Amino acid sequence: MDILLERRSVRDYTKKHVKNKDIQYILHAGMSAPSAKNTKCYSFIVIKNKETHKKIANILKGAQMILKAPLAILIVGDENKSYEQYFQQDCSAATQNILLAATAKKYGSVWCGIYSNKDREEKIQKLFKLPNNIKPFSIVVIGKNANKPQNKNNWDTKKIYYELWE
Ligand SMILES: Cc1cc2nc3c(=O)[nH]c(=O)nc-3n(C[C@H](O)[C@H](O)[C@H](O)COP(=O)(O)O)c2cc1C
Repeated sequence: MDILLERRSVRDYTKKHVKNKDIQYILHAGMSAPSAKNTKCYSFIVIKNKETHKKIANILKGAQMILKAPLAILIVGDENKSYEQYFQQDCSAATQNILLAATAKKYGSVWCGIYSNKDREEKIQKLFKLPNNIKPFSIVVIGKNANKPQNKNNWDTKKIYYELWE
């Protein structure tokens, strides 16, 4: 629970790289996410190359923080492998697991959305040479926090209903 409450979207990083063993840990968390009918239709592309980061920033206006980050992970889903059309949910779960694992290892991270915007999807698909059935879902940008993230408390009783919507 501590990790859940600690996680924040972090968009400013130091130049420090992400250790390979931490990348493995974070990927392990991604592939441990729940998956409809356990198809595990998600895969992950580890992206350290700064030229590729620049190309991503040109495509995803909401991902400018990648220019300062040492690492990004692209989460993709195999439409052919997924149960019904659940690849989005599978990839969401994998994305959240990656954010939490990064938090556990004391990195800052942020979820950058790709799906479901056709223009973004097509451009990312082309950049990474993804076959048609492999759908780009999100990019998680990861690095050492440049600043201490502000505390937050999202507890909100207005979000809770008991038994009925009233
Ligand atoms: C589907 C989805 C897409 C998102 N896309 C972006 C994005 O493109 N750029 C960004 O900076 N943050 C993005 N975020 C992060 C949200 O802005 C962030 O989670 C929200 O403001 C709450 O802040 P917190 O994560 O610190 O609790 C996205 C989050 C989700 C769930």
